[in-house]
Parts: sequence; C-alpha cells; structure tokens
Amino acid sequence: MEAYTLINGVTIPKIGFGTWQIPEGSEAYQSVSYALEVGYTHIDTAQIYGNEVSVGKAIADSNLKRQDIFLTTKIWNDKHSYELAKASMDESLKKLGVDYLDLVLIHWPNPKPLRANEAWKKANAETWRAMEEYYEAGKIRAIGVSNFMQHHLEALFETARIKPMVNQILLAPGCPQDDLVSFCRQHDILPEAYSPLGTGSIFSNETAKEIAANYGKSVAQIALRWSLQKGFLPLPKSVTPKNILSNLAIFDFDLTDEDMARLDRITGGKVQSNPDERDF
Ligand SMILES: NC(=O)c1ccc[n+]([C@@H]2O[C@H](COP(=O)([O-])OP(=O)(O)OC[C@H]3O[C@@H](n4cnc5c(N)ncnc54)[C@H](OP(=O)(O)O)[C@@H]3O)[C@@H](O)[C@H]2O)c1
Repeated sequence: MEAYTLINGVTIPKIGFGTWQIPEGSEAYQSVSYALEVGYTHIDTAQIYGNEVSVGKAIADSNLKRQDIFLTTKIWNDKHSYELAKASMDESLKKLGVDYLDLVLIHWPNPKPLRANEAWKKANAETWRAMEEYYEAGKIRAIGVSNFMQHHLEALFETARIKPMVNQILLAPGCPQDDLVSFCRQHDILPEAYSPLGTGSIFSNETAKEIAANYGKSVAQIALRWSLQKGFLPLPKSVTPKNILSNLAIFDFDLTDEDMARLDRITGGKVQSNPDERDF
C-alpha cells in the first residue's frame, strides 16, 4: 500500500477502511477481517461508532503484525476536557486491545453544549493538551482533528504546542472544500477524506456514471481515484466483500484534468455540514 508521510515523519497508508455504521459484533469483525486480508492496512474507527472491540479483535486475529497496521480512533463530544480525554484514550486502548494508537482525532470541534460563550475553545485546548501528553509518552503516534473548519483550527493553534497532523473532513466529488484544504496544506495538515463516496450518494450521479464508464471503472473507483489525485486520504466504508476488494483497485489509472474538474463540480451529493450548526 502506498503511503503519505505526516509532518512528524510517520507514514500513513493512502487508503483507510471506514467503519462508521458497521455494527459492533460479527459484521464489524467480518468486514475488518476481510479488509485486512485483502490488503487494507489502515482502519478508521471512533468511540461513537461503538465497534472498537470488534475492530480490535479483527486486528488481533489477522495475519498482520500490529506495526503493519495503522489504527485511528476519535475522541467523542462528551470527553472534551484534560481528564476526560485521557480516560477516553485509555478506554479506546483497552477496547481495541492495543498498547498504542497510530492516530487519535478530536471528532468534532464544538459540541452543542459547549457553544455558549465559545466554551469549545477552552475544551479543545484541554483535550489537545491530553493528546499531546499521550503523543509525547509514545501512546499515540500522531494527533489530529476532524470536522474542524479554519476558525476552529486557528483557535486551537493559540494554545497547541504540537500542530494537528491530520484534519478528517467530508471530501468527495462535488465537495472539494478548496479553501479549507488549502489552509490545511499551508499548515502541513493532511486532509483525510471521510464519506469519499458521499455515504452512497455518488452512485446516482449521472456525470460520475458517465466518467466511470469511459474508464471502464466503477463509480466508487473513480470517486476514490479523484480523492487520491487531489492528495486526500480516502476512507471508504463497505460491508460487502466485492466492494471492499474493488475499492482498493485505484492505483492503475489516472483521471484527466478535465474529468477531475468535472468531478469537482458535480451537484446533488452529500456535502460537509456546518459543525457550528449541528444538533449535537
Ligand atoms: N470524522 C467524521 O465525522 C466522519 C463522518 C463520516 C464518515 N467518517 C469516516 O469515513 C468513512 C466513510 O464514510 P461513510 O461511511 O459516510 O461512507 P462512504 O464510504 O462514502 O460510502 C459508503 C456507502 O457506499 C457503499 N459502497 C462502498 N463501496 C461501494 C462500491 N464499490 N460499490 C457500491 N457501493 C459501495 C457502501 O455500501 P456497502 O457497505 O454495502 O458496500 C455504503 O452504503 C466512515 O466509515 C468513517 O470511518 C468520518
């Protein structure tokens, strides 16, 4: 698997296997096991997905060594303080059954209860301090954020000793988020593409279907290739073995600049929601 290199020198495989909405138990265990069997070496989970135990079991039972797998989890909204964040990372380590994590993200910048008086700023600073401490102790190999817009990043920069290495945001054809991506690049933050298939919304798009047919590829493959050519790190989710496998076959073709631009502009698919307005 090809890899990007984060600003701290840690390498991160260019595709990750997404696990949102894969229920804890046999479905999570089987899909992650199959993904590891067919070549994924990067798994994206989160405390709020509720599947860390099965993800960890699939990793433990796989033929891969721990150091050959890149494992990400995320701290959820009710754990935004120094002490709670530490307890939360300890819980993730325990549930996943590992003694270090490759990447931990603050899942959401501004949980609803922390919006009054911009309490989220102090909460993120404290959460981040706990993450820096775990990073320096070697319990985490990289730290980052998710769903952070420019102003959330700027607020974090005011107190962070270590800059975030990743921002995981919605990036998909029709949602290239050029300004935010450019801001991330200026600060050496790798953009990870969540919902790279628009949580399925890409499959009904006529332009995407036409481009896929021209290359003899699937719609998923051209969406994921678009992501790679943008320099993003896509995190496709699937529980269907043939999709899990075919989503990896995106390294043997190139989209033209014209097709990249057409995919930038498609409409009607899922786009990044405004984190300042979500009801949680
Ligand atoms: N940080 C955040 O706030 C955040 C938010 C959303 C997502 N994420 C991360 O990003 C990952 C991916 O995003 P997502 O779960 O929204 O969805 P996605 O990967 O954009 O799309 C998944 C959907 O596409 C289908 N699919 C996948 N490959 C396919 C193929 N080759 N052909 C046809 N259908 C295919 C899946 O169905 P099957 O399962 O049946 O294949 C599923 O319905 C998540 O799992 C999670 O890890 C993070």
